[in-house]
Order: sequence, then C-alpha cells, then structure tokens
Amino acid sequence: MRIDILTILPELLQGPFSESIMKRAQERGLLDLNVHNIRDYSKNKHNKVDNTQYGGGAGMVMTIQPIADLIKKLQSERTYDEIIFMTPDGEVLKQEICNDLSLKGNIIILCGHYKGIDERIREHFITKEISIGSYVLTGGELAACVVVDSVVRLIPGVINDETSALTDSFQDNLLSPPVYTKPAEYNDWKVPNVLLSGDFAKIDKWREEKALERTKKRRPDILK
Ligand code: ADE
Repeated sequence: MRIDILTILPELLQGPFSESIMKRAQERGLLDLNVHNIRDYSKNKHNKVDNTQYGGGAGMVMTIQPIADLIKKLQSERTYDEIIFMTPDGEVLKQEICNDLSLKGNIIILCGHYKGIDERIREHFITKEISIGSYVLTGGELAACVVVDSVVRLIPGVINDETSALTDSFQDNLLSPPVYTKPAEYNDWKVPNVLLSGDFAKIDKWREEKALERTKKRRPDILK
C-alpha cells in the first residue's frame, strides 16, 4: 500500500512513522509512506501557503495553488483510490472505514491547517473527508497519524500474530474482554479461575460474556 501525506509540518509526522508497527510495515515493504511538504510547491515568492478569507473574518485559509499542483503531480504518476482530507467536519472515523482503507492500493491524505482550506480543493480533488472525533486539533497531522496507524496494522503481514488485528475491539462491534498475564496472583489480586482452567470452550464463553457485558456498559451505541 502507498500513502502520500500532504502537510505544511512534515517534521510532526516523523516520530510516529518511524517506530513500532509503522516502521516494521515500511521495512517489510508492505507500506510505502511518502510525506510531502506543501510549502515546497508554493509559487509565491515567500512560499506562502495561506491567505485571508474572502468576506472577512479571523483566521487564514490554505490556498489552492500549492495543494492543487502537488495533487496533480502525484496523480500524473499513479492512480489514487482515495484522496482524503482530515477535517473536524468529516465522517467520524470508525473501524469499518479503517478496514475499507486497508484494502486500497494508493491513497493521499491531506492535512488541513489554519481556518481550513479553500473549498474548491474539497470540491474538485477530495473523495473522502475524515474526522477523528468531535474536537478541534491544531492541524490534520495528528489525525492523519491516527488514520495511518489504524489502517496499516490491518495490512496482512504487518502484525506478526495474524489473528491479532481481527480480534481487536470494534472488529465485531464488541469491545475486547479483559486480559491478564503472569503472575496469577499479585498481593491478593487474583486472575479469574476460568482462565487458568485449561478448558478452552469455557474460556471462549467467558470471553464472549465479558466482551458483551463491557460493551453494554461502556459502548451500547456500537452493539448491533
Ligand atoms: N483537524 C482538526 N481537527 C480534526 C479532527 N477532529 N479530525 C480530523 N482532522 C482534524
């Protein structure tokens, strides 16, 4: 899978993309991640990428030219399945969107800033708008990291234990059941007996019950 990220703050993305699963996915050739600095494409003599908004009002708006030129350059090199804009007024990210994106070949993710981007970019280039929740971030970069992380871990071969991503919370509209590890007893805090029983049918049943109980209590909205 190839992901191109368009940003005015490329340094902000370096840390998250060079550790753990993201690092491994790139080393294994399963993820081709490219971060582009929008400013490099500005034809303005001061490399400006924003301007005041028509009609007046506080806050700068990202201009069309550098973003359009960068997207057109990328599109001349390959076909993109999706051109995503990270924005608080987009569709709220959920597991199904991540599953769907993990099956794509090439995607662009555009990170917004300031008051937003010129609406014509959204009208003419963007195919999908994603929000990571009902709050406003300073820019789309952290939101883009969330999308990339949640998508990349679903690409076959990225996570070592193949079944692990499939048993994530949300995959079957259930939260995950509680998990425990050694020691079986810490002070007087005990691991539930059933998990030590070796009876795997009973363990599966216990896990299903706990997952359902937890989902009903904490996230009844996701229950089918
Ligand atoms: N940019 C600013 N806030 C955002 C949010 N909540 N989701 C996605 N992109 C954003």
